[in-house]
Amino acid sequence: MSYSAYYVEESNGDFSASIHELELTKPESGFVQIEVSHSSLNYKDALSATGVKGVTREYPFVPGIDAVGVVTDSASNIFAKGDEVIVTGYDLGMNTPGGFGEFITVPAEWVVLKPSNLSAVEAMSIGTAGLTAAASVLKILESNPSKDLPIVVTGATGGVGSVAVMLLSTLGFDVSALTGKEASRDFLHSIGANSIILRTDFLEAPSKPMARPIFAGAVDTVGGSILSKLLPQILPHGVVTSCGNVAGIEINTTVFPFILRGISLCGIDSAEAPIEFKKTLWNKFANEWKLDLTSLVREVSKEQLNEEILTILKGGQEGRVVLSHRE
Ligand SMILES: NC(=O)c1ccc[n+]([C@@H]2O[C@H](COP(=O)([O-])OP(=O)(O)OC[C@H]3O[C@@H](n4cnc5c(N)ncnc54)[C@H](OP(=O)(O)O)[C@@H]3O)[C@@H](O)[C@H]2O)c1
Repeated sequence: MSYSAYYVEESNGDFSASIHELELTKPESGFVQIEVSHSSLNYKDALSATGVKGVTREYPFVPGIDAVGVVTDSASNIFAKGDEVIVTGYDLGMNTPGGFGEFITVPAEWVVLKPSNLSAVEAMSIGTAGLTAAASVLKILESNPSKDLPIVVTGATGGVGSVAVMLLSTLGFDVSALTGKEASRDFLHSIGANSIILRTDFLEAPSKPMARPIFAGAVDTVGGSILSKLLPQILPHGVVTSCGNVAGIEINTTVFPFILRGISLCGIDSAEAPIEFKKTLWNKFANEWKLDLTSLVREVSKEQLNEEILTILKGGQEGRVVLSHRE
């Protein structure tokens, strides 16, 4: 039996993608085969689809670090045919063919049962970006943050940023959205941001090793000079989470925010998080953290992925992109 996939090939160092038919094989012991109904687009998928080193080693390849679907064949005693399941992260879409194909075959240990009160589209509207936002928000909640000052979210219109804005707002926080997109003010207010800070204004403002604290905490999704500049502006004992590097991999800081204000800088790695932690986050999204994500999601087909990938690489995405394998 064959299935269709968004298939990336390399030729003399150039990468191109097409919709390709692939042969389905039986899962080995310990693996499950899943018919994928939906996936989602994350920044890492765009890197894999364009051959950026450090994500995918060998091509041809099918990206897609997120997938939701139904088990069609199981060589594991954990899952049975017909189970509705979600897979995010680990090696999926990195070096294990991912959710941009209509089938995936993965170790059972990577798989969680989809909560019955989350639809497949809702699950992929969350996806890795949403789990990352949730892991970041959990870290901030553990610090019992003050509600007297806002929590700032950087890269606020992006996948991780937009879910973090909506989640923090739903949890009753005053949210400042830091964005490069002047035109996205209405979008950011509509998903719960109370105030908007333009990236250029933020970066151009004078900085000091110890500035006046104006944020109770921060979900940083971009790194680089923005993260560097945030650290001296956090209320004592506040938490800043760091998950991304689209603005740069280096930060420039003194130790003052840490030793004089007790700020914590917490790293977030949702892709490799233990499966039990992922289950906890999925259950939160299905229950007390249930969000109406429809306003920040667009559904696309495999044929539309090339354009969406170019947009995310330019930092131009607003919200989440869900890939539907259904016609
Ligand atoms: N550690 C983990 O587990 C984990 C998991 C998921 C994602 N990530 C990382 O988190 C980051 C965000 O992922 P995503 O899926 O949300 O990507 P995304 O949808 O592309 O969002 C990134 C956002 O960052 C802002 N941005 C883009 N270029 C920028 C630049 N040069 N300087 C400052 N801001 C810039 C843009 O938002 P505005 O225009 O609103 O500023 C953009 O929409 C990526 O680096 C990704 O690799 C890490």
